[in-house]
Amino acid sequence: MVVKNKKLVKRIVSTTLAVSIAFGSLGYAAGFENVLANGKSGYSQDQKVVARVNAERAIEHVRYLSEEIGTRPGGLEAEHIAADYIAKEFKSFGYDVDYQYFPVGDQFIANVSFDNGTVWELAAAPNGKISDEAVTAEVVSVENNDFSNVDGKIALLPRASTVADYRTQVNDAVAEGAVGVILQSLVGSRGNFGQTFNPNLTTPVDVPVYGASYIHGEWLKEKLANGPVEVSLTAKHHSNLQSVNVIATKKAKNRNNDGKTVILGAHHDSVVGAPGANDNASGVGLMLELARVYQGYNTDKDVRFIAFGSEERGLLGSRHYVNQLSQEERDQIEAVFVPDMVATSYEKAENLYAMTVDGSRNTVTDSTVAAGARLGNSDILPGRFGSSDHVPFHNAGIPAALFIWMGIDSWDPLIYHIEKVYHTPQDTIADNISTERMQSALDIIGSGLFDVVRKEVPALEKKNK
Ligand code: BES
Ligand code: ZN
Repeated sequence: MVVKNKKLVKRIVSTTLAVSIAFGSLGYAAGFENVLANGKSGYSQDQKVVARVNAERAIEHVRYLSEEIGTRPGGLEAEHIAADYIAKEFKSFGYDVDYQYFPVGDQFIANVSFDNGTVWELAAAPNGKISDEAVTAEVVSVENNDFSNVDGKIALLPRASTVADYRTQVNDAVAEGAVGVILQSLVGSRGNFGQTFNPNLTTPVDVPVYGASYIHGEWLKEKLANGPVEVSLTAKHHSNLQSVNVIATKKAKNRNNDGKTVILGAHHDSVVGAPGANDNASGVGLMLELARVYQGYNTDKDVRFIAFGSEERGLLGSRHYVNQLSQEERDQIEAVFVPDMVATSYEKAENLYAMTVDGSRNTVTDSTVAAGARLGNSDILPGRFGSSDHVPFHNAGIPAALFIWMGIDSWDPLIYHIEKVYHTPQDTIADNISTERMQSALDIIGSGLFDVVRKEVPALEKKNK
Protein backbone atom coordinates (compact mmCIF):
# COMPACT_ATOMS: atom_id res chain seq x y z
CA MET A 1 0.00 0.00 0.00
CA VAL A 2 1.29 3.42 -0.97
CA VAL A 3 0.59 5.08 2.36
CA LYS A 4 2.46 2.37 4.24
CA ASN A 5 5.56 2.54 2.03
CA LYS A 6 5.68 6.26 2.40
CA LYS A 7 5.53 5.94 6.14
CA LEU A 8 8.35 3.42 6.12
CA VAL A 9 10.53 5.75 4.07
CA LYS A 10 9.73 8.66 6.33
CA ARG A 11 10.63 6.65 9.42
CA ILE A 12 14.02 5.85 7.94
CA VAL A 13 14.52 9.55 7.36
CA SER A 14 13.49 10.58 10.81
CA THR A 15 15.51 8.01 12.67
CA THR A 16 18.75 8.22 10.67
CA LEU A 17 18.40 11.60 8.96
CA ALA A 18 19.62 9.82 5.85
CA VAL A 19 18.31 12.51 3.58
CA SER A 20 19.90 11.15 0.44
CA ILE A 21 18.26 7.77 0.91
CA ALA A 22 14.87 9.45 1.17
CA PHE A 23 15.39 11.45 -2.00
CA GLY A 24 16.56 8.35 -3.83
CA SER A 25 13.71 6.08 -2.74
CA LEU A 26 11.03 8.64 -3.43
CA GLY A 27 12.38 9.90 -6.73
CA TYR A 28 11.83 13.44 -5.55
CA ALA A 29 15.29 14.74 -6.42
CA ALA A 30 14.06 16.69 -9.44
CA GLY A 31 12.32 19.90 -8.40
CA PHE A 32 12.67 19.14 -4.72
CA GLU A 33 12.64 22.32 -2.67
CA ASN A 34 14.55 21.85 0.53
CA VAL A 35 14.72 25.47 1.56
CA LEU A 36 12.06 27.57 3.24
CA ALA A 37 10.87 30.87 1.81
CA ASN A 38 12.97 32.69 4.40
CA GLY A 39 16.17 31.03 3.24
CA LYS A 40 16.56 28.65 6.15
CA SER A 41 17.14 24.98 5.68
CA GLY A 42 13.59 23.76 5.91
CA TYR A 43 14.34 20.11 6.09
CA SER A 44 16.20 20.19 9.40
CA GLN A 45 13.55 22.45 10.92
CA ASP A 46 10.84 20.00 9.78
CA GLN A 47 12.74 17.18 11.44
CA LYS A 48 12.32 18.83 14.82
CA VAL A 49 8.63 18.13 14.40
CA VAL A 50 8.56 15.00 12.25
CA ALA A 51 11.01 13.07 14.39
CA ARG A 52 8.83 13.63 17.45
CA VAL A 53 5.14 13.60 16.48
CA ASN A 54 3.65 10.18 16.99
CA ALA A 55 0.33 8.97 15.57
CA GLU A 56 -0.10 6.42 18.32
CA ARG A 57 -0.02 9.12 20.97
CA ALA A 58 -2.59 11.13 18.99
CA ILE A 59 -4.80 8.05 18.67
CA GLU A 60 -4.62 7.47 22.42
CA HIS A 61 -6.47 10.82 22.74
CA VAL A 62 -8.92 9.62 20.08
CA ARG A 63 -9.46 6.49 22.16
CA TYR A 64 -10.11 8.43 25.34
CA LEU A 65 -12.54 10.81 23.66
CA SER A 66 -14.45 8.31 21.49
CA GLU A 67 -14.39 5.22 23.74
CA GLU A 68 -13.85 6.32 27.34
CA ILE A 69 -16.19 9.30 26.99
CA GLY A 70 -18.10 8.34 23.83
CA THR A 71 -20.65 10.62 22.19
CA ARG A 72 -20.11 14.31 23.01
CA PRO A 73 -23.15 16.33 21.87
CA GLY A 74 -22.64 20.08 22.21
CA GLY A 75 -23.64 21.43 25.62
CA LEU A 76 -24.19 18.07 27.30
CA GLU A 77 -22.16 16.70 30.19
CA ALA A 78 -20.03 14.45 27.98
CA GLU A 79 -18.83 17.45 26.00
CA HIS A 80 -17.72 19.12 29.24
CA ILE A 81 -15.91 15.95 30.31
CA ALA A 82 -14.10 16.04 26.96
CA ALA A 83 -13.22 19.70 27.55
CA ASP A 84 -11.80 18.84 30.99
CA TYR A 85 -9.75 16.02 29.52
CA ILE A 86 -8.30 18.34 26.86
CA ALA A 87 -7.56 21.05 29.46
CA LYS A 88 -5.81 18.52 31.67
CA GLU A 89 -3.64 17.34 28.76
CA PHE A 90 -2.73 20.93 27.77
CA LYS A 91 -1.76 21.69 31.38
CA SER A 92 0.34 18.53 31.60
CA PHE A 93 2.38 19.89 28.65
CA GLY A 94 2.88 23.17 30.51
CA TYR A 95 0.34 25.46 28.82
CA ASP A 96 -1.84 28.14 30.37
CA VAL A 97 -5.44 27.11 29.75
CA ASP A 98 -8.64 29.17 29.55
CA TYR A 99 -12.26 28.00 29.34
CA GLN A 100 -14.56 30.16 27.24
CA TYR A 101 -18.27 29.44 27.78
CA PHE A 102 -21.13 30.27 25.43
CA PRO A 103 -24.85 29.43 25.26
CA VAL A 104 -26.06 26.70 22.88
CA GLY A 105 -29.78 26.41 23.65
CA ASP A 106 -31.56 23.09 24.07
CA GLN A 107 -31.08 19.41 23.21
CA PHE A 108 -33.72 16.66 23.19
CA ILE A 109 -31.88 13.43 23.93
CA ALA A 110 -33.50 9.99 23.81
CA ASN A 111 -32.37 6.67 25.23
CA VAL A 112 -33.34 3.24 23.96
CA SER A 113 -32.57 0.65 26.65
CA PHE A 114 -32.34 -3.09 26.03
CA ASP A 115 -32.70 -6.02 28.47
CA ASN A 116 -28.99 -6.78 28.28
CA GLY A 117 -28.07 -3.32 29.56
CA THR A 118 -27.24 -1.78 26.17
CA VAL A 119 -28.38 1.83 25.88
CA TRP A 120 -28.50 3.77 22.63
CA GLU A 121 -28.43 7.55 22.45
CA LEU A 122 -30.84 8.96 19.85
CA ALA A 123 -32.42 12.34 19.15
CA ALA A 124 -36.04 12.96 20.18
CA ALA A 125 -38.80 14.95 18.49
CA PRO A 126 -39.34 17.98 20.79
CA ASN A 127 -43.12 17.71 20.44
CA GLY A 128 -43.34 13.97 20.87
CA LYS A 129 -43.43 12.55 24.42
CA ILE A 130 -40.35 13.70 26.35
CA SER A 131 -40.27 11.92 29.69
CA ASP A 132 -38.01 9.94 31.99
CA GLU A 133 -41.03 7.71 32.65
CA ALA A 134 -40.20 4.77 30.36
CA VAL A 135 -42.41 3.51 27.55
CA THR A 136 -41.63 -0.20 27.44
CA ALA A 137 -42.91 -2.38 24.60
CA GLU A 138 -41.97 -4.75 21.84
CA VAL A 139 -40.52 -3.36 18.64
CA VAL A 140 -42.09 -4.16 15.27
CA SER A 141 -40.53 -3.37 11.94
CA VAL A 142 -42.89 -1.61 9.55
CA GLU A 143 -42.42 -2.33 5.87
CA ASN A 144 -44.04 -0.60 2.90
CA ASN A 145 -45.90 1.70 5.30
CA ASP A 146 -48.13 -1.19 6.36
CA PHE A 147 -49.14 -0.23 9.90
CA SER A 148 -51.42 -3.20 10.60
CA ASN A 149 -48.99 -4.70 13.17
CA VAL A 150 -48.17 -1.64 15.32
CA ASP A 151 -50.99 -1.58 17.92
CA GLY A 152 -49.43 -1.46 21.41
CA LYS A 153 -45.94 -1.69 19.90
CA ILE A 154 -42.99 0.54 19.16
CA ALA A 155 -42.88 1.02 15.40
CA LEU A 156 -39.53 0.98 13.61
CA LEU A 157 -40.04 2.88 10.36
CA PRO A 158 -37.66 3.42 7.46
CA ARG A 159 -37.92 7.20 7.31
CA ALA A 160 -39.58 8.71 4.23
CA SER A 161 -37.28 11.12 2.41
CA THR A 162 -39.31 14.30 2.87
CA VAL A 163 -40.33 15.85 6.18
CA ALA A 164 -43.98 16.00 5.08
CA ASP A 165 -43.95 12.29 4.27
CA TYR A 166 -42.35 11.17 7.51
CA ARG A 167 -44.81 13.31 9.49
CA THR A 168 -47.56 11.34 7.72
CA GLN A 169 -45.81 8.08 8.65
CA VAL A 170 -45.70 9.14 12.32
CA ASN A 171 -49.38 10.15 12.32
CA ASP A 172 -50.41 6.88 10.64
CA ALA A 173 -48.42 4.79 13.15
CA VAL A 174 -49.93 6.67 16.11
CA ALA A 175 -53.44 6.39 14.62
CA GLU A 176 -52.96 2.60 14.43
CA GLY A 177 -52.02 2.44 18.12
CA ALA A 178 -48.22 2.61 18.13
CA VAL A 179 -46.94 3.53 21.60
CA GLY A 180 -43.64 4.80 20.22
CA VAL A 181 -42.00 5.51 16.88
CA ILE A 182 -38.37 5.08 15.87
CA LEU A 183 -37.63 6.59 12.49
CA GLN A 184 -34.64 5.03 10.75
CA SER A 185 -32.59 7.52 8.77
CA LEU A 186 -31.79 5.96 5.40
CA VAL A 187 -29.31 8.30 3.73
CA GLY A 188 -26.84 10.92 4.91
CA SER A 189 -26.40 14.28 3.25
CA ARG A 190 -23.05 13.47 1.66
CA GLY A 191 -23.58 9.86 0.67
CA ASN A 192 -22.70 8.79 4.20
CA PHE A 193 -25.01 6.51 6.16
CA GLY A 194 -27.98 8.25 7.78
CA GLN A 195 -27.36 9.88 11.16
CA THR A 196 -29.56 10.41 14.21
CA PHE A 197 -31.86 13.43 13.88
CA ASN A 198 -34.57 15.27 15.79
CA PRO A 199 -37.81 14.47 13.95
CA ASN A 200 -39.49 17.74 13.16
CA LEU A 201 -43.23 17.36 13.83
CA THR A 202 -45.85 20.08 13.39
CA THR A 203 -48.63 18.45 15.37
CA PRO A 204 -47.65 17.29 18.85
CA VAL A 205 -48.12 13.57 19.55
CA ASP A 206 -48.20 11.95 23.00
CA VAL A 207 -45.89 9.05 22.20
CA PRO A 208 -42.07 9.19 21.97
CA VAL A 209 -40.82 9.80 18.42
CA TYR A 210 -37.09 9.34 17.94
CA GLY A 211 -34.73 9.79 15.00
CA ALA A 212 -32.31 6.86 14.75
CA SER A 213 -29.30 6.46 12.49
CA TYR A 214 -29.36 3.99 9.61
CA ILE A 215 -27.21 1.48 11.51
CA HIS A 216 -29.42 1.66 14.62
CA GLY A 217 -32.34 0.54 12.42
CA GLU A 218 -30.30 -2.24 10.85
CA TRP A 219 -29.15 -3.47 14.27
CA LEU A 220 -32.75 -3.52 15.49
CA LYS A 221 -33.88 -5.52 12.44
CA GLU A 222 -31.04 -8.01 13.02
CA LYS A 223 -32.17 -8.51 16.60
CA LEU A 224 -35.80 -8.87 15.49
CA ALA A 225 -34.77 -11.65 13.10
CA ASN A 226 -33.75 -13.65 16.20
CA GLY A 227 -36.99 -13.19 18.12
CA PRO A 228 -39.03 -10.57 19.98
CA VAL A 229 -37.20 -7.47 21.20
CA GLU A 230 -38.48 -5.35 24.06
CA VAL A 231 -37.04 -1.88 24.66
CA SER A 232 -37.63 1.01 27.04
CA LEU A 233 -37.82 4.54 25.71
CA THR A 234 -36.96 7.61 27.78
CA ALA A 235 -36.04 11.14 26.79
CA LYS A 236 -34.88 14.35 28.40
CA HIS A 237 -35.17 17.99 27.45
CA HIS A 238 -31.88 19.68 28.32
CA SER A 239 -32.40 23.44 28.32
CA ASN A 240 -30.23 26.56 28.49
CA LEU A 241 -27.12 24.56 27.75
CA GLN A 242 -23.64 25.99 27.81
CA SER A 243 -20.81 24.77 25.64
CA VAL A 244 -17.12 25.59 25.95
CA ASN A 245 -13.97 26.37 24.00
CA VAL A 246 -10.72 25.28 25.65
CA ILE A 247 -7.80 27.57 24.81
CA ALA A 248 -4.11 26.87 25.42
CA THR A 249 -1.68 29.68 24.75
CA LYS A 250 2.02 29.55 23.98
CA LYS A 251 3.62 32.98 24.12
CA ALA A 252 6.22 33.99 21.56
CA LYS A 253 9.74 33.68 22.98
CA ASN A 254 12.17 34.50 20.22
CA ARG A 255 13.29 38.06 19.61
CA ASN A 256 11.63 38.08 16.21
CA ASN A 257 8.23 38.37 17.86
CA ASP A 258 6.10 40.35 15.43
CA GLY A 259 2.95 40.48 17.53
CA LYS A 260 1.19 37.89 15.38
CA THR A 261 -0.85 34.92 16.58
CA VAL A 262 -1.31 31.61 14.80
CA ILE A 263 -4.19 29.29 15.74
CA LEU A 264 -4.65 25.55 15.49
CA GLY A 265 -8.27 24.69 16.35
CA ALA A 266 -10.29 21.46 16.32
CA HIS A 267 -13.85 20.77 17.47
CA HIS A 268 -14.27 18.38 20.37
CA ASP A 269 -18.02 17.73 20.18
CA SER A 270 -19.75 15.00 18.16
CA VAL A 271 -23.26 14.53 16.81
CA VAL A 272 -25.83 12.76 19.00
CA GLY A 273 -25.32 8.99 18.87
CA ALA A 274 -21.89 9.19 17.22
CA PRO A 275 -18.65 8.54 19.14
CA GLY A 276 -16.91 10.84 16.66
CA ALA A 277 -13.56 9.07 16.45
CA ASN A 278 -12.67 10.68 13.15
CA ASP A 279 -15.20 13.57 13.42
CA ASN A 280 -13.49 14.99 15.32
CA ALA A 281 -11.54 13.26 18.08
CA SER A 282 -8.92 12.84 15.32
CA GLY A 283 -8.46 16.61 14.99
CA VAL A 284 -8.25 17.03 18.76
CA GLY A 285 -5.77 14.16 19.03
CA LEU A 286 -3.61 15.73 16.33
CA MET A 287 -3.82 19.10 18.08
CA LEU A 288 -2.84 17.68 21.49
CA GLU A 289 0.08 15.78 19.99
CA LEU A 290 1.36 18.91 18.23
CA ALA A 291 0.86 20.92 21.43
CA ARG A 292 3.00 18.36 23.27
CA VAL A 293 5.83 18.52 20.73
CA TYR A 294 5.76 22.31 20.25
CA GLN A 295 6.10 22.93 23.96
CA GLY A 296 9.74 21.92 23.59
CA TYR A 297 10.47 24.82 21.19
CA ASN A 298 10.44 28.59 21.30
CA THR A 299 8.38 30.35 18.66
CA ASP A 300 8.45 33.80 17.09
CA LYS A 301 4.68 34.17 17.31
CA ASP A 302 2.02 33.42 19.87
CA VAL A 303 0.46 30.03 19.19
CA ARG A 304 -3.07 29.24 20.35
CA PHE A 305 -4.43 25.72 20.45
CA ILE A 306 -8.23 25.81 20.68
CA ALA A 307 -10.68 22.95 21.19
CA PHE A 308 -13.95 24.36 19.84
CA GLY A 309 -17.28 23.28 21.35
CA SER A 310 -20.56 22.67 19.51
CA GLU A 311 -19.28 22.74 15.94
CA GLU A 312 -21.88 20.15 14.99
CA ARG A 313 -24.65 22.48 16.14
CA GLY A 314 -23.71 25.19 13.66
CA LEU A 315 -20.02 26.11 14.15
CA LEU A 316 -21.05 27.70 17.44
CA GLY A 317 -17.72 27.55 19.28
CA SER A 318 -15.61 29.02 16.49
CA ARG A 319 -18.27 31.62 15.76
CA HIS A 320 -18.34 32.65 19.40
CA TYR A 321 -14.56 32.80 19.50
CA VAL A 322 -14.38 35.10 16.47
CA ASN A 323 -17.31 37.25 17.63
CA GLN A 324 -15.71 38.12 20.94
CA LEU A 325 -12.43 39.30 19.36
CA SER A 326 -11.82 43.01 18.84
CA GLN A 327 -10.84 44.14 15.34
CA GLU A 328 -7.30 44.63 16.62
CA GLU A 329 -7.17 41.05 17.87
CA ARG A 330 -8.55 39.77 14.55
CA ASP A 331 -5.86 41.68 12.68
CA GLN A 332 -3.18 39.97 14.78
CA ILE A 333 -4.25 36.48 13.66
CA GLU A 334 -2.01 35.44 10.81
CA ALA A 335 -3.38 31.98 10.07
CA VAL A 336 -5.86 29.41 11.39
CA PHE A 337 -5.29 25.67 10.90
CA VAL A 338 -8.45 23.55 11.39
CA PRO A 339 -8.00 19.77 11.43
CA ASP A 340 -11.44 18.11 11.17
CA MET A 341 -11.53 14.41 10.15
CA VAL A 342 -7.78 13.86 9.76
CA ALA A 343 -7.40 10.07 10.15
CA THR A 344 -10.13 8.15 8.31
CA SER A 345 -9.26 4.68 7.08
CA TYR A 346 -11.79 4.99 4.22
CA GLU A 347 -9.86 3.80 1.20
CA LYS A 348 -11.15 6.34 -1.31
CA ALA A 349 -10.26 9.32 0.89
CA GLU A 350 -6.81 9.41 -0.69
CA ASN A 351 -5.60 12.92 0.01
CA LEU A 352 -5.32 15.30 2.91
CA TYR A 353 -6.94 18.47 1.57
CA ALA A 354 -6.23 21.95 2.87
CA MET A 355 -9.60 23.52 2.11
CA THR A 356 -10.36 27.23 2.09
CA VAL A 357 -13.92 28.51 1.91
CA ASP A 358 -13.41 30.19 -1.47
CA GLY A 359 -10.67 27.99 -2.90
CA SER A 360 -8.04 30.73 -2.66
CA ARG A 361 -4.54 29.95 -1.36
CA ASN A 362 -3.33 31.42 1.89
CA THR A 363 -0.63 30.95 4.52
CA VAL A 364 -2.30 27.77 5.79
CA THR A 365 -2.56 26.02 2.43
CA ASP A 366 0.82 27.29 1.18
CA SER A 367 2.79 26.36 4.30
CA THR A 368 1.42 22.82 4.41
CA VAL A 369 1.71 22.14 0.68
CA ALA A 370 5.33 23.34 0.88
CA ALA A 371 5.94 21.16 3.94
CA GLY A 372 4.61 18.15 2.02
CA ALA A 373 7.03 18.90 -0.83
CA ARG A 374 10.01 19.18 1.54
CA LEU A 375 9.05 15.94 3.25
CA GLY A 376 8.49 14.05 0.02
CA ASN A 377 4.90 13.52 1.12
CA SER A 378 2.42 13.95 -1.73
CA ASP A 379 -0.74 13.38 0.34
CA ILE A 380 -1.47 17.11 0.77
CA LEU A 381 -3.46 19.07 -1.83
CA PRO A 382 -5.24 22.44 -1.73
CA GLY A 383 -9.00 22.61 -2.22
CA ARG A 384 -12.26 24.39 -1.56
CA PHE A 385 -14.82 23.45 1.10
CA GLY A 386 -16.81 25.02 3.93
CA SER A 387 -18.72 23.19 6.69
CA SER A 388 -16.23 23.53 9.55
CA ASP A 389 -14.65 25.90 12.05
CA HIS A 390 -12.54 27.72 9.43
CA VAL A 391 -15.72 29.39 8.10
CA PRO A 392 -16.26 32.03 10.85
CA PHE A 393 -12.58 33.03 10.59
CA HIS A 394 -12.81 33.30 6.81
CA ASN A 395 -15.95 35.42 7.15
CA ALA A 396 -14.01 37.79 9.41
CA GLY A 397 -11.26 38.12 6.81
CA ILE A 398 -8.79 35.87 8.67
CA PRO A 399 -6.78 33.35 6.59
CA ALA A 400 -7.97 29.85 7.56
CA ALA A 401 -8.20 26.35 6.13
CA LEU A 402 -9.79 23.01 6.98
CA PHE A 403 -7.74 19.79 6.83
CA ILE A 404 -9.70 16.70 5.87
CA TRP A 405 -9.02 13.38 4.11
CA MET A 406 -11.19 13.05 1.02
CA GLY A 407 -11.06 11.74 -2.50
CA ILE A 408 -11.90 14.35 -5.14
CA ASP A 409 -12.71 13.12 -8.65
CA SER A 410 -13.77 16.50 -10.00
CA TRP A 411 -14.08 20.06 -8.67
CA ASP A 412 -16.60 21.27 -11.23
CA PRO A 413 -19.01 19.67 -10.81
CA LEU A 414 -17.81 18.63 -7.36
CA ILE A 415 -17.55 14.83 -7.18
CA TYR A 416 -15.99 13.55 -4.01
CA HIS A 417 -15.55 10.51 -1.78
CA ILE A 418 -16.04 10.83 1.94
CA GLU A 419 -16.22 8.09 4.51
CA LYS A 420 -19.68 6.53 4.97
CA VAL A 421 -19.62 6.32 8.73
CA TYR A 422 -19.02 9.88 9.96
CA HIS A 423 -21.91 11.21 12.11
CA THR A 424 -22.98 7.64 12.89
CA PRO A 425 -22.37 5.11 15.70
CA GLN A 426 -19.82 3.49 13.36
CA ASP A 427 -17.38 6.41 13.54
CA THR A 428 -15.10 4.36 15.78
CA ILE A 429 -11.37 3.68 15.92
CA ALA A 430 -11.95 0.11 14.76
CA ASP A 431 -14.04 1.11 11.75
CA ASN A 432 -12.68 4.49 10.81
CA ILE A 433 -9.17 5.35 12.04
CA SER A 434 -5.88 4.88 10.20
CA THR A 435 -2.57 5.28 12.03
CA GLU A 436 -0.75 5.99 8.74
CA ARG A 437 -3.16 8.76 7.76
CA MET A 438 -2.88 10.29 11.25
CA GLN A 439 0.92 10.21 10.99
CA SER A 440 0.88 11.84 7.56
CA ALA A 441 -1.43 14.61 8.83
CA LEU A 442 0.77 15.17 11.90
CA ASP A 443 3.92 15.42 9.77
CA ILE A 444 2.44 17.80 7.22
CA ILE A 445 0.39 20.06 9.48
CA GLY A 446 3.06 19.97 12.18
CA SER A 447 5.83 21.02 9.76
CA GLY A 448 3.74 23.61 7.91
CA LEU A 449 2.57 25.27 11.11
CA PHE A 450 6.08 25.18 12.59
CA ASP A 451 7.43 26.99 9.53
CA VAL A 452 4.82 29.73 10.02
CA VAL A 453 5.49 30.25 13.73
CA ARG A 454 9.30 30.14 13.40
CA LYS A 455 9.95 32.50 10.54
CA GLU A 456 13.43 33.61 11.47
CA VAL A 457 14.68 36.65 9.61
CA PRO A 458 18.35 36.97 8.65
CA ALA A 459 20.54 38.48 11.37
CA LEU A 460 21.39 41.66 9.44
CA GLU A 461 17.81 42.52 8.72
CA LYS A 462 17.05 41.96 12.38
CA LYS A 463 19.74 44.44 13.44
CA ASN A 464 18.47 47.12 11.07
CA LYS A 465 14.90 46.87 12.29
N1 BES B 1 -16.32 17.39 9.74
C1 BES B 1 -17.60 17.86 9.31
C2 BES B 1 -17.51 18.62 8.01
C3 BES B 1 -17.34 17.83 6.76
C4 BES B 1 -17.88 16.57 6.61
C5 BES B 1 -16.70 18.42 5.70
C6 BES B 1 -17.71 15.87 5.44
C7 BES B 1 -16.53 17.73 4.52
C8 BES B 1 -17.05 16.45 4.40
C9 BES B 1 -18.18 18.77 10.36
O1 BES B 1 -18.03 18.26 11.66
C10 BES B 1 -19.65 18.93 10.13
O2 BES B 1 -20.37 17.98 10.26
N2 BES B 1 -20.06 20.14 9.80
C11 BES B 1 -21.44 20.47 9.68
C12 BES B 1 -21.50 21.99 9.66
C13 BES B 1 -22.84 22.55 10.02
C14 BES B 1 -23.31 22.13 11.38
C15 BES B 1 -22.77 24.06 9.92
C16 BES B 1 -22.01 19.91 8.39
O3 BES B 1 -21.31 19.90 7.37
O4 BES B 1 -23.15 19.49 8.40
ZN1 ZN C 1 -19.39 16.59 11.84
